[in-house]
Amino acid sequence: MDKLVVTGGTRLEGTVSMSGSKNGCLAIMAAALLGKGETVLYNVPSIRDVHTMVEVLRSLGVRCDYEDNGLLRIDATEIECTEAPYELVRRMRASFCVLGPVLARKGYAKVAMPGGCDIGARPVDFHIKGIQTLGAHLVMDHGFVEAECERLRGGQIYLNFPSAGATQHLMTAAALADGVTTIYNAAMEPEVVEVAKFLNKMGARVEGAGTSTIRVEGVRELRGTEFELLPDRMEAGTFAVAAVITQGDVRIENIRPTDVKPFVLKLIEAGAVVDVYDNYMRVRCNSRPLATDIVTMPHPGFPTDLQQPFGAMLSIAEGTSVITENVYERRFKYVSELIRMGADIKVEGRTAIINGVPKLTGAQVAATDLRAGAALVCAALAAEGESEVLGVEHIERGYENLVEKLQALGANIARVSEEQSLTDCELAAPVSS
Ligand code: EPZ
Repeated sequence: MDKLVVTGGTRLEGTVSMSGSKNGCLAIMAAALLGKGETVLYNVPSIRDVHTMVEVLRSLGVRCDYEDNGLLRIDATEIECTEAPYELVRRMRASFCVLGPVLARKGYAKVAMPGGCDIGARPVDFHIKGIQTLGAHLVMDHGFVEAECERLRGGQIYLNFPSAGATQHLMTAAALADGVTTIYNAAMEPEVVEVAKFLNKMGARVEGAGTSTIRVEGVRELRGTEFELLPDRMEAGTFAVAAVITQGDVRIENIRPTDVKPFVLKLIEAGAVVDVYDNYMRVRCNSRPLATDIVTMPHPGFPTDLQQPFGAMLSIAEGTSVITENVYERRFKYVSELIRMGADIKVEGRTAIINGVPKLTGAQVAATDLRAGAALVCAALAAEGESEVLGVEHIERGYENLVEKLQALGANIARVSEEQSLTDCELAAPVSS
């Protein structure tokens, strides 16, 4: 296993461009299963989760080919297999969302139930109840969900919580159903809107995406199409935190202003100077950040995926900050690692109370999920001395070329094999930006 070795204290300066959205890409790759003919996706990030989803599609007998510079070709004219293996679904929860489109195309699907992960139990009961509402007969046995239905029929679905994944999954399944489906209390994330846009480009009839009520009028057949993925707003937020925590000055390109607004306002509250333009933003900070409170909520609230990187930033803020995590039940595992770097944080249930300290000190820390890993990298960039961040495989699930992008901004960061010690590691000289 590799690790990241970071020497903190360098101000990040320069320009970095965001990759395509991981969360948008995974849902759209599953939706592409509905289409006969070729789908071409542009701006696809080369990250572990996308590679896993490529394996999932190939395991279904679907042609799926990566080409250079972020182009992915999918041809689901034929779906030869109707079972997604546990090994792949275990690796990545989003794989579960092939259930609906395979069932809609083939009348049968068998998909392993995803396990939980380090941020929560991650149940799929909303997905299952929604697929049943669309007329499918489901059996849950030996860790698998088996679904059967000659043809799905439109129905009324109410989500107890505006789940992004469940909204994307059920909208996709409903696109080929007979009749109209309405999803109430739907998620409003930008990645949900992108799936609706993609489905409509394939010939579907989806209205209301981006609001809490989505209406899908089923059609008989959908065709492959071409589609460019939206930029990754979570990557943009992560780099914005890296700029602030190192008191740097970074231009973050390939963003959408409306997508970043929920966290830009929080950066400004924390004392950063943030100028947002039509497709890039400049993030500057020339002092310790100021304490502020974070309350994670479904979109357009503050995104839970940035709770951890912001927690790292607030650990060195002037004053006391309170983070309330309303989306997941245990998304504070990274806190114990920050405490090992000198942070003063107390976690009580879904709340973290952060007393900002003047500085963190380098340490060996371990990532437990991709956003926790990103938070620890941000902390290491600001910490005094050298840090090792273990669990690179988590980080690489969702961040494309993170080390190279940070090096280009002047960070002293290198990826080394785990057995190499701090002393014999030649940190890559920062690439001139
Ligand atoms: C998506 O996960 C994202 N992943 C997550 O990003 C993100 O944190 C989350 O949405 C919330 O924005 C992808 O898009 C691949 P949810 P998803 O269903 O769809 C509960 C990252 O770091 N729930 O909106 O799985 C669930 O337990 C990842 O990139 C049920 O109870 O999230 C959670 O508490 C992490 N039953 C809440 O809803 C269900 O059937 C929100 O989950 C489904 C969800």
